[in-house]
Amino acid sequence: MRPLKMLKTEENSTILSEKQPQIMDDPKQYEKDLLQTIESKEQHILYSLERVKAYILKEYRLKKEKALKDMQQFEKINDKEAARALAIHIGLPFTDYAKHLQEKLCNVMHTKQFYLNVNTELGKVVKLDEKELSIAKDNFDMVCNYQKRRENGIPSEDLYTPELMKYLIQRTFKKSANDAYAAISSINLEGLVDFQKEYIRICCIGGGPGSDLTGILCYLMELGHFKFECFIYDYNHTNWENVAAKPLLEILKAQSKKSFGKEIEISIKWVFCDIKSDWDDKTPIPSADIFCSCWALNESIYYPKFWEDLIDANKNALFFLIDGDRYPIENFRYFKSLSHRKFLYEGLETPRRLTIFPVSTIDL
Ligand SMILES: C[S@@+](CC[C@H](N)C(=O)[O-])C[C@H]1O[C@@H](n2cnc3c(N)ncnc32)[C@H](O)[C@@H]1O
Repeated sequence: MRPLKMLKTEENSTILSEKQPQIMDDPKQYEKDLLQTIESKEQHILYSLERVKAYILKEYRLKKEKALKDMQQFEKINDKEAARALAIHIGLPFTDYAKHLQEKLCNVMHTKQFYLNVNTELGKVVKLDEKELSIAKDNFDMVCNYQKRRENGIPSEDLYTPELMKYLIQRTFKKSANDAYAAISSINLEGLVDFQKEYIRICCIGGGPGSDLTGILCYLMELGHFKFECFIYDYNHTNWENVAAKPLLEILKAQSKKSFGKEIEISIKWVFCDIKSDWDDKTPIPSADIFCSCWALNESIYYPKFWEDLIDANKNALFFLIDGDRYPIENFRYFKSLSHRKFLYEGLETPRRLTIFPVSTIDL
């Protein structure tokens, strides 16, 4: 229908002024108009979603076509280093684009605020004075210097003083929660995780204060799950528990209610483990539905058997490994325990990620 043209003639204004009072006199009209607006907005949103979807897919296809075309250059390369350089040259902009796009899509969901709020609230409780800050910073610099630690054989386990723990909560909790959320939220968990179970069991290895756990919980709550049994396996389990456990549990409960309108039912146990040695009677191999290890692999001597045994004993579990150091995570692809499993290694970004899917999803 063509819009009414408002002509400023005496005649027209008389007509309008005669009709208007009739419309406004009907109090029901406001309700009808509002209802019509609400209905039409839904149509607008659906239309916009379709338009954005078509736009994103078209853009993605163009980027993919370009990447595939550029990849033809691999035919001319035999040298390992040159192949790696080309993979980085083509892969980095591509994965950056995909990562940012995915982040933008997830930003629409206000529930993501959950782990950001948990981080803020925990940061308020865990405070450091000047002296503690100075000790923490020195230890933090050493923990982050992979090369220096490797060259001097300094394991990071013993650098975890209560000062460093508080500092890590202030500095890296949010990043790790975000890394874990980004990894898990890009995967459709239907058929990968048994959601019929009353409690979903999550186990974080080298899980520290529960940062990666918080990111995982956020996504699972977005999917409508609120009951969890959680385990944080860590070399410094006692100190982490002392620093983080009490405030974290209270904050998780309060923030789940705030972001999701429902309080999380959760237990978290901190347990000793040492990723550079075998599982034993003191720390038997745990079983869980989801395992995550975030920024812990680089901190210790790489001991594949620890992971092989864990993966082997949890055939139907989903694993997420996230780290900044490429070597330990890259080596997982040679594991015997992975020979029947599907896995996805995303190696061109920092963090690098490895996702190991359950055996039950694969046709053997
Ligand atoms: C950088 S923090 C990461 C904590 C948490 N996953 C995160 O991303 O925020 C590394 C964690 O690995 C733990 N860790 C270091 N060496 C370990 C070892 N040999 N066995 C088990 N945990 C270890 C540390 O105690 C620390 O909690």
